[in-house]
Amino acid sequence: MIHSDLKKHYSRFLKGHGTNLHLAAHSHHFWPDVTREAQIEYWDDCAKTSDEKWNKIFSQIIPKTQKHIAKILNLKDEQQIAFAPNTHELTSRLLSLFLGRSALSVLTTTSEFHSWKRQILRLKELPEVSLTTVTTDLLLSDRRAFLDDLKNKLKNSPDIFFISQVFFDSGLALTDSELMELLEAKSSTTLMVVDGYHAFAALPTNLGPFEGKIFYLGGGYKYAQGGEGSAFMVIPKGEWRPAYTGWFAEYAHLSHNPGSEVGYSSDGMAFMGSTQDPSGLYRFNATWDLFEKLGLTVPSIHAHVKALQEEFIRVMPKSFLQRFNLTPLFKDLDWHGHFLTYSTRNPEEGEVIQQILRDKGILNDRRGNRLRFGLGLYHNQADIQDFQERLKKLAMS
Ligand SMILES: Cc1ncc(COP(=O)(O)O)c(C=O)c1O
Repeated sequence: MIHSDLKKHYSRFLKGHGTNLHLAAHSHHFWPDVTREAQIEYWDDCAKTSDEKWNKIFSQIIPKTQKHIAKILNLKDEQQIAFAPNTHELTSRLLSLFLGRSALSVLTTTSEFHSWKRQILRLKELPEVSLTTVTTDLLLSDRRAFLDDLKNKLKNSPDIFFISQVFFDSGLALTDSELMELLEAKSSTTLMVVDGYHAFAALPTNLGPFEGKIFYLGGGYKYAQGGEGSAFMVIPKGEWRPAYTGWFAEYAHLSHNPGSEVGYSSDGMAFMGSTQDPSGLYRFNATWDLFEKLGLTVPSIHAHVKALQEEFIRVMPKSFLQRFNLTPLFKDLDWHGHFLTYSTRNPEEGEVIQQILRDKGILNDRRGNRLRFGLGLYHNQADIQDFQERLKKLAMS
C-alpha cells in the first residue's frame, strides 16, 4: 500500500530540493522535520550541561537508540549494540581483534561497500593477510551457484567472513534463510559479519535467530533517517578486547581506578571508540519515536516502497531503456533493497545518462556503470507520474 499523506513530515527537505525529483532515498533518505528539533535539543543540552551532557547521552539517548534498533531487528539483548560515527570505524575495530596474530584470512564478496573494500585491499598488501573474494556476478542468474561458491570457501575456515545482506551495487538481497545457510556452513572459529546497512529499516529483517551468532552492521544515514553519526554494530556476547579502543569502551568504569590493565565493558560497549558527535542519535530517536506514534513499521515501509517500485517499473518507457542500453538488475521485488538498479555499457555512458536525467531535475545516483533509483517514505503516486512526465519531455528533446 502506498501512503499518500507522509510528505507533510518531510516539508523542510522537500522545500530544500525545490522542483527537483529526488530519487536517491537509498543513499540519503530525506529526514523528517522532527529531526531538526532533535538537533536543536542536542545543542540545548550542550548549552545547559556542558561536559555533564554525557550522563544524559549514556543513560537516556544511547539506551533509547538501542531499544529502537532492537525492536526493528527483533533482538533481545539491546546492550550488545555499539555505536560509532561510521561503519568503517566499527569494522576497523573488528579487524583490530586480530592485531598481533600471525595471520588473518578474510572471505568476502566483490560487492562490499567502498570503505571495507579499500581497507581490506590495503591490508592485503601485508604478507600475513590473505583475502578470498567471491564474485556476485551470478547473484541474479544463479543464486545457488553463488551460495555454493561461498559455502565451499567457508570450508577453509577464514577468520572473518564479511557479506552484505543487500548488495550496494544492485539492491539484490540475501534472504534470512540464505544467511542462515551460510551461518550453518561456517566453522565455529570464523567470525561472520553481515553488513546490513542497505537492509536496516528497509527490509523486515528478523535477526532473532542470528542473535549472538553474527556481527551485524547498520546505521542511520540511509533508511533509518537519522543521518550521519549513528552507525552501529550488533555484537555477540563475549569478552571482546579490540586493540583499537577508546574511553567510551569502559565508560561505566570510568569513575573507578582504571588500574594498570585496559578494561572493557562486558557488553557491546566494548566496541565503542571515543568522543563522537551524538546528535545523529538524537535525530535517529526522533525519527523512530515519530514512526511509533504514526504506527509505521518496517513491514509497512517496505510495502510502501515495493508498491512504488512496481509503479516505477510500470511507467519506465521501454524506449528509454533501449535508447540508453539499460538493463534492469532485479527480479523479485518482494525481497529486494529499496533501490532499483539498471546497468549500462560502461561508466562513461552511465555518467552521460545521469547528467541527462539531472538536466530534467531527476536526481539519482550511480556506481560505475550502474544507475540506482531509490524511493522512500516521502514519495507517493504523484512522484511516479512526475517521473513519467519528465521522461516524456526527455524523449521529445
Ligand atoms: C553497504 C554499505 N555498508 C556501509 C555503508 C556505510 O559506510 P560508512 O559508515 O563507513 O560511511 C554504506 C554506505 O554507503 C553501504 O552502502
